[in-house]
Amino acid sequence: MGQPRNGPSPIGRARHRVSSISSGLKPHSTATTFPGSGRVAQLVEQVTVNHRVTGSSPVAVALVCGPLTPVVRGPLSFTERRVETNRSPHMSNSSRPLADAGAFVILGAAGGIGSRIAEALAADGATLVLAGRTLEKLTPLASTLSAEARAVEASDFAAVESLVAEAKARHGRVAGLVNAVGSILLKPAHLTSEAELAETLRLNVQTAFAAVRAAGRVMTDGGSVLLFSSAASETGLPNHEAIAAAKGAIAGLVRSAAATYAPRKLRVNALAPGLVETPLAARITGNPASLAASVAMHPAGRIGRAEDLVAPARWLLDPASDWVTGQVIPVDGGMSRIKAPAR
Ligand SMILES: NC(=O)c1ccc[n+]([C@@H]2O[C@H](COP(=O)([O-])OP(=O)(O)OC[C@H]3O[C@@H](n4cnc5c(N)ncnc54)[C@H](OP(=O)(O)O)[C@@H]3O)[C@@H](O)[C@H]2O)c1
Repeated sequence: MGQPRNGPSPIGRARHRVSSISSGLKPHSTATTFPGSGRVAQLVEQVTVNHRVTGSSPVAVALVCGPLTPVVRGPLSFTERRVETNRSPHMSNSSRPLADAGAFVILGAAGGIGSRIAEALAADGATLVLAGRTLEKLTPLASTLSAEARAVEASDFAAVESLVAEAKARHGRVAGLVNAVGSILLKPAHLTSEAELAETLRLNVQTAFAAVRAAGRVMTDGGSVLLFSSAASETGLPNHEAIAAAKGAIAGLVRSAAATYAPRKLRVNALAPGLVETPLAARITGNPASLAASVAMHPAGRIGRAEDLVAPARWLLDPASDWVTGQVIPVDGGMSRIKAPAR
């Protein structure tokens, strides 16, 4: 049987087009065309069986849904247009996708979360400037990651601005600035002193503000600023008044600064973690009763690990995420939005 007089059938042409798209995608992607709705489960099952038979490990199934007609009729198919418009000018096919973006400056880089973000960015080829209060804590990580280390007081506006300006002068551009400095204070308002509140605001709000201010002054050709808020300001937790106030201020800072700097492509976002096992949380996680109470507050059934923050941070810092700004994203085992089920 030859092909129909008008060439391949619409489904045959769609298959051909989807295959030609997949051949340009790396690594090892395959494509299949499933016309009709309600067959997603069948498609996933087929992919799973295929991979089991071939012994390869499937990573993900991406569904491109849309009417078949535009797929087979247009000079450039619906699926192809989706691929093209999603491809940011900053995206690279390199296995070191951040290598050419510019420098990434991390404040609090020796900390639990900051150090994991640094490792992930280094694995993507990023040029790193690691900053923190204590140079001795930064140096081992910096030498492992072939990064620069700088001792900087993160609440000092002028020091942070010089740090970012120096990174720009040395590397041509600063693509990302992370402030992973912060604190935890667990006390009700009536037991919190003025000094404790001032220190909480200094370590959280002032350092975040210093980062945004420096970015606004130095990152004049755009980039990504990443701050840390907290689940404690996304929901009411007892005995968190000072830190909730400080982290809530960071959420406000994110939204206003994102609006101010959007026209020049400088994005400002924050992650809002639940309790994460880092040196900062050691007094809570090191006490079995506090740890058990904390685990119970997280619907996911565990407290966080620093690596839980890495993929969201990496994503927000990636120049390809250039449509995401002004967001405070909870990464908290569900704590801020849902109730933990009774266990
Ligand atoms: N861990 C959690 O449960 C949790 C929960 C919600 C939000 N967060 C937020 O997530 C971010 C990262 O927290 P983390 O758990 O990774 O904290 P961490 O392990 O304590 O790391 C913080 C880092 O910042 C440095 N640092 C502290 N004060 C500084 C200052 N004034 N100037 C310069 N560097 C300073 C510290 O240096 P030194 O080691 O020299 O002190 C440390 O390396 C913070 O904003 C935190 O508030 C954490």
